[in-house]
Amino acid sequence: MTKGQVVAGDFGKIVMRVKSTEQIELGELVVIDDGEEKFILQVYDLVYGSQISQQNLEMVSGMNLEQGEFQIMDESLRNYQLAFLKPVLTVSKTSKMCKKLPSFFAKVREIRKEDLSFITLPENPLFLGNLRSGSRTMDFTISLPGKDVLSHHVLIPASTGKGKSNLMSCILWDITSKNYAGMLVLDPHDEYYGRIGLGLKDHPQKNKVCYYTPHNPPVGAKTLKINITKLKPEHFQGAISLSDPQRQCLHSYYKKFKNNWVRFLLEEKRIEGVNFHEDTISVVKRKLISLLDLDIDNGQMLSNGVFDMIAGENTITEMCSELEQGKMVIIDTSYFSGSLEIMIGSIVTTEIFQRYKYYKRTGQLDLKPVVSIVLEEAPRVLGKKVLENGSNIFDTIAREGRKFKVGLIAITQLPSEIPKNILANMNTKIILGIEMNSERQAVIESSPQDLSQDNRTIASLDKGEAFVTSTFTRFAVPIKVPLFKEFAKKEEKTSYQMDGSLFG
Ligand SMILES: Nc1ncnc2c1ncn2[C@@H]1O[C@H](COP(=O)(O)OP(=O)(O)OP(=O)(O)O)[C@@H](O)[C@H]1O
Ligand SMILES: [Mg+2]
Repeated sequence: MTKGQVVAGDFGKIVMRVKSTEQIELGELVVIDDGEEKFILQVYDLVYGSQISQQNLEMVSGMNLEQGEFQIMDESLRNYQLAFLKPVLTVSKTSKMCKKLPSFFAKVREIRKEDLSFITLPENPLFLGNLRSGSRTMDFTISLPGKDVLSHHVLIPASTGKGKSNLMSCILWDITSKNYAGMLVLDPHDEYYGRIGLGLKDHPQKNKVCYYTPHNPPVGAKTLKINITKLKPEHFQGAISLSDPQRQCLHSYYKKFKNNWVRFLLEEKRIEGVNFHEDTISVVKRKLISLLDLDIDNGQMLSNGVFDMIAGENTITEMCSELEQGKMVIIDTSYFSGSLEIMIGSIVTTEIFQRYKYYKRTGQLDLKPVVSIVLEEAPRVLGKKVLENGSNIFDTIAREGRKFKVGLIAITQLPSEIPKNILANMNTKIILGIEMNSERQAVIESSPQDLSQDNRTIASLDKGEAFVTSTFTRFAVPIKVPLFKEFAKKEEKTSYQMDGSLFG
């Protein structure tokens, strides 16, 4: 169906007159068939146009408002809308990049499923949603090459309530059916497992979902306990702020007492030949006791929380081997303070990263699934302010994880708080609606594709509507994420019919 006709423009901005009977929306995809070539374009702005001078228009309007019904002759010919289009892709036999202008006066039509037949299903498809043209959801699924996407990091920025958690639930559900990735999910809202309501526990392959919680584990879940001897000084990096002498204090105890370092530090056992300022030890001690939720009673250490003197010897090892088997490890951190959550996340992440580094050295890495770490409110560990106090395991992974098949999925409302170089390293961004301009700018500036004209479109995204911009897609793809409830129901019935991806 013809939507309009090209009337002006330049390479990045093609102006189309919209046919009066047609509706056109921001973000809509349209097609120009031009001989051998087919151009796919996207609407990024809409304005009014008229053959009648502004003064006359205003006069007609005045007569209309003040004196009743008054019509312009040939109204649909004289008044119209103009849509600004940016070319996103050319489909031709010879080249795939857009380097030409479509012919002048070319007819512009609606996009159809067949226009996308060049898109094929990638290896290890990661399902994200359906292709979307404006607010119209198309019968065409979009999947990305899962292994590459996960190891090269994913950013999910959006304002609150735009559907980040819903998208994450869908992604996790989809990955659970596959075997190419181990997922570590730090879940501060305890929303993914589905303790109450639908969640990953309801997946047909629920044996691949491992759930750790500190309180009342439901059937099939495990109690989260970590033995205190498993702690290392670097695990505290990013979780609590320590001055240089305080950090040195941790390291000295670790060096001297190895596995028993926390206990001996809390008991203030002296290290021969090393003298700490008394204050340093007592401050460090206080910080550890409060973070680890320990008590000392008559010289006896008591644990109230996750960190235990006796239990939890194997927890970390177990989690890591689950991840290495391509399973999903969900840790319910909803009971913890932010710093404790980060601490626990750091422990598991550090361990799995070290293992994968080792596998790389010994040539076994190819046999392992990718591991992806899901971080909610990512600026808590990747924020500029946090990183000013020193690097931590998460930013190490953001910088070099992909070499070792370990990646991050960073979810955030405030992408601008994450340093630019880390944002740029996140090679796939699934952008949902973002209300604040400064946050949109941060994402647009660090996107693999040019989104400079899409500011308005991103601002107008509704719940579940997204843009996928990725080094693994040929253009920034508008998608509609399904509602998790419906997605999970459907996936149970039809086992994975996916017909499209953008891996070109
Ligand atoms: N793809 C979707 N389609 C339709 N509705 C959706 C979609 N995604 C989310 N919603 C609706 O929006 C609500 C909020 O979604 P969600 O909890 O995923 O947002 P969020 O971005 O995680 O918010 P928060 O910042 O509070 O964590 C959901 O309860 C659901 O009703
Ligand atoms: Mg959420």
